[in-house]
Amino acid sequence: SSLYDFTFCLENNNIKNFTVFPYNDQPSAYDYYKILNFSIQNLRFTEPTTPKPVVIVLPESLEQVQKSLACCREFSLGVRVRSGGHSYEGTSSVASDGTPFVIIDLMNLNHVKVDMETKTAWVEGGATLGETYYAISQASDVYGFSAGSCPTVGVGGLIGGGGFGLLSRKYGLAADNVLDALLVDAEGRLLDRKTMGDDVFWAIRGGGGGVWGIVYAWKIQLLKVPQIVTSCSVPRTGAKRDIAKLLNKWQYVAPNLEDDFYLSCLVAAAGLPEAKNVGLSTTFNGFYLGPKSNAISILNQDFPELNVVDEECSEMSWIESIVFFSGLKDGASVSDLGNRYLQDKQYFKAKSDYVRSNVSLFGIETALGFLEKEPKGSVVLDPYGGIMNNISSDSIAFPHRKGNIFSIQYLIYWKEEDNDKSSDYIDWIRGFYSSMTHFVSQDPRAAYVNYIDFDLGVMGVISLNDVVNPRVWGEKYFLSNYDRLVIAKTLIDPNNVFTNEQGILPKTFAS
Ligand code: FDA
Repeated sequence: SSLYDFTFCLENNNIKNFTVFPYNDQPSAYDYYKILNFSIQNLRFTEPTTPKPVVIVLPESLEQVQKSLACCREFSLGVRVRSGGHSYEGTSSVASDGTPFVIIDLMNLNHVKVDMETKTAWVEGGATLGETYYAISQASDVYGFSAGSCPTVGVGGLIGGGGFGLLSRKYGLAADNVLDALLVDAEGRLLDRKTMGDDVFWAIRGGGGGVWGIVYAWKIQLLKVPQIVTSCSVPRTGAKRDIAKLLNKWQYVAPNLEDDFYLSCLVAAAGLPEAKNVGLSTTFNGFYLGPKSNAISILNQDFPELNVVDEECSEMSWIESIVFFSGLKDGASVSDLGNRYLQDKQYFKAKSDYVRSNVSLFGIETALGFLEKEPKGSVVLDPYGGIMNNISSDSIAFPHRKGNIFSIQYLIYWKEEDNDKSSDYIDWIRGFYSSMTHFVSQDPRAAYVNYIDFDLGVMGVISLNDVVNPRVWGEKYFLSNYDRLVIAKTLIDPNNVFTNEQGILPKTFAS
């Protein structure tokens, strides 16, 4: 009956766009599961055993966001906010502490308003990166934005956790380029930069999504890009020793290239299409804010071992480079960037590390040894340096700046037919991560909150008498910024309405 009262509360507030858990296999089950699973990127969180929301609400206006939240609070329902649904641990779609919960899914709040006079844009919290990039490109061919490469990732989660991408060595993270934000707090109030105050505005930029309130919109700074940029895809296969030598050189070159250059690297095991079944493979992805001739001459001078050839790089507009690195299928065009429909979803587990001293050849070979044995595994290495070295580590909540040479993302993907071996895959990635301990950052071993990883620790059942200390994972994600995040949390959400398995507890809850 309280569920009935809750839906009555929504309807009473003129909110019609919601779907209710189909308790008795009602005909609405199809709609419910379609909407629930639509944007869950990691299939691990679509299993029948995964806790399901009692209701999914899809607000169509700011007022509906506020009213949906008010109804959730009136009926003591947990809240999960969803933007692009790409959380690695399903934090936008699942609450596993046993609380009945509601998903407030912002996918209909995806409007992007670009203002070329001020070179800014207001982006609603449910927009995807693809929708944001597309809108900017429609307004100008010499402005872009610094965020991630996958177009279906949402701005709600990505900017909330930082947002690293091809332009980050030049302009910093997405969150570094946020000028203002509209945040709906636990009481349903709409706050902007001024009214939320310095601590909270600082915290929502890089302090992780889902724990402060609902970001209804971000105001972002557009960033100058040349009319022509260069994109390179440089695949190289070989035996472990050869690939190790290339990676060893990469770690000295990529983080020290000029800011206009980004050169990342995907290392995959034999058996993946990229590896063409020969030994190990790496694909170096190069992006340069300038003409191809410069890009190639820089690479040949600083990284001659890569032997880049003309055909491996192409000139294009900035927005075409977004499509180039998007992972969309061959033949995709700029207009496909707005398509939220995900075709190739899989099950996956990921972990992350930061590297602050160059990894020895032995360390690289240790990593390659793991990759060689597991064709479903891969790592992505993102070069830091550039302006990331010049932004202070407490300018926003994201802390990983000067001194970080590159980040490592460990990944393992599998398909439904292999899901009975999921625990083997998860054991593999944990073993890999553990074997890298001596080669990566320590005290604490740092991690990127946008590559959220429950292995770093999770809350138990949260109540005043059952206290856990989120510092365990909080300091890995936020280093010495963690204490200020607790202050911000205490100010903005003292009752811990916005939480998840790795939330930040207000002082009243924390030990
Ligand atoms: P989702 O909707 O799952 O939200 C993630 C978290 O933020 C949840 O806790 C949610 O409650 C909260 N949240 C969402 N919207 C909110 C809002 N409006 N207000 C308050 N809280 C909100 N990262 C990166 O830095 N660079 C990259 O290039 C990539 N690339 C990439 C590719 C792919 C395929 C994946 C799956 C992920 C990435 N990421 C990434 C990681 C990505 O930044 C991270 O998963 C984000 O949390 C995803 O944000 P979504 O809004 O899509 O997720």
